[in-house]
Amino acid sequence: MAATSTTPGGKTLPPMMTSLRVDGSGQVEIVDQLLLPHTVKWIPVSTPEEAFDAIKTMRIRGAPAIASLAALSVRSYLSSGAASKFSTPADVSADLGSILDYLESSRPTAVNLAEAMNRLRRILKSAPAAGGAAEVSALVEKIKTAAFAVHEEDQERNRTMGRLGAEWLWQQRGGKDGKKGLKVITVCNTGSLATSGYGTAIGVITALFEADHLDTAYYAQTTPYHQGSRLTSLELTTLKIPACMICDTMLGSLMQHNDIDGVIIGADRIVANGDTANKIGSYQAAVLAQRHNVPFVVVAPVTTVDLSLETGAQIHIEQRPAVEATLVRGKNLETGDLSVVRISPEGVGSGPEPWNQVYNPSFDVTPAELISAVVTEKGVAVRAPGAKSIDVASVC
Ligand code: MRU
Repeated sequence: MAATSTTPGGKTLPPMMTSLRVDGSGQVEIVDQLLLPHTVKWIPVSTPEEAFDAIKTMRIRGAPAIASLAALSVRSYLSSGAASKFSTPADVSADLGSILDYLESSRPTAVNLAEAMNRLRRILKSAPAAGGAAEVSALVEKIKTAAFAVHEEDQERNRTMGRLGAEWLWQQRGGKDGKKGLKVITVCNTGSLATSGYGTAIGVITALFEADHLDTAYYAQTTPYHQGSRLTSLELTTLKIPACMICDTMLGSLMQHNDIDGVIIGADRIVANGDTANKIGSYQAAVLAQRHNVPFVVVAPVTTVDLSLETGAQIHIEQRPAVEATLVRGKNLETGDLSVVRISPEGVGSGPEPWNQVYNPSFDVTPAELISAVVTEKGVAVRAPGAKSIDVASVC
């Protein structure tokens, strides 16, 4: 856990959960998120293979956090002696090139991972192919520094986004009819467990809380992986932020019966026209938000913006194994043991028969026309009334 911090409003926040940590010797450890919220177990991740496995199995998840781990695993690989086998910079490029491709293939939708790998590729590309020990050593050091920066840069920008998003939403809804605090909804988990610290959408919620501008943060359970009920719940209760969990099926009812001020989500990929891929369930929240006149705000770092794609139709949406939707992880009330239990009949999700199918996309795409604003560390891009797109390039 990170140290306590005192807010501008004088509040002292308890230490936040963190997804990963790096010790003085460079050893990387992650919290096994499959065991949360019941058990906090740190596991070492020393190689690109271990990082791939941790990302693929979602022991670590969240767009910025997986980018950080992948980059840090390249740094660990180079620090572990692998660099001694290189004779020329071309050897470094050939070896790391395939490792970066491999790491990038672990999860396809979150562009932060691809962007982090591209950042390292750009360094490899700009290096002269010829040279000896001195050139190899300089290149290896450059890669290691850039890999660490992927992780380190994430924390500071999250605080900036949190502040910008909270200020914008407060301007829209604060003070109206004497309102002292906002009621907001979030989907998935976007806090310190999904990033290198503070979070994106949860960063905005935390900043509202720090400024005494939050009434309640409602969060959806976010099935089938339960990022909301397992992880967001843990983060918000740890920070003692007023929060209320809802089932995914209750979003409409909540907006119908409460004066909700905003839906705030993170993102895995925001494309040039503002269409945004995020955790499954985000799109339905956006449709309901429009129906109820509630601002729908996307919060993500510039590394989540992919200007190479024009519309959301081009985003590759990851399909998770069908069987994941038929299981839940939890704590046995009698024994206290952690277990995975099946909630559907045998065969559902694992048989080829037409009656055993499961639809399990990990993400959905919210069209820009349903998004009120995109917040990055560079600013807030607001959709003009009636517009079908958002100028995300203006905040990159
Ligand atoms: O499948 P996950 O848990 O990796 O999905 C995470 C999300 O969709 C988050 O909302 C997104 O990555 C933003 S995290 C700051």
